[in-house]
Amino acid sequence: AKLLLLHGPNLNLLGTREPEIYGSTTLSQINEAASAQCAAAGCAFDSLQTNHEGVLVERIHQALADKVDFIVINPAAFTHTSVALRDALAGVAIPFIEVHLSNPHARETFRHHSYLSDLAKGVICGFGANSYTLAVGAALKQLG
Ligand code: DQA
Repeated sequence: AKLLLLHGPNLNLLGTREPEIYGSTTLSQINEAASAQCAAAGCAFDSLQTNHEGVLVERIHQALADKVDFIVINPAAFTHTSVALRDALAGVAIPFIEVHLSNPHARETFRHHSYLSDLAKGVICGFGANSYTLAVGAALKQLG
């Protein structure tokens, strides 16, 4: 099986970005942990972080050609803005889990709505870097 982990805008700054909200774990640490989890389950792993909406849309299209079985995505701010990302995920129809480090529901009201959640297999938020571990674990279980 093949799992793709996607990270949206500003997540390249993890570790130094608003640590009181997002914690001190870096994006490389998150990717390494996810990669190790997948390797242990015999699942192929790839990841991408981008600050560009179109790049994310095109990577999701590519996932179909790559025969990706499951996507774990932290859409970051695009969660709350992007019909294009929603349409891309709906278009490829690859099951996905939406993940957030923080709990957007406990934050500003503009973060309460997600364009993706109703299409997701599930949503995991509020556990910092552990949100990713939980999401990848859930994805691997779905694939198993
Ligand atoms: C986030 C939450 C979003 O509201 C925010 O725009 C982010 C990160 C999170 O992981 O907590 O950039 O997706």
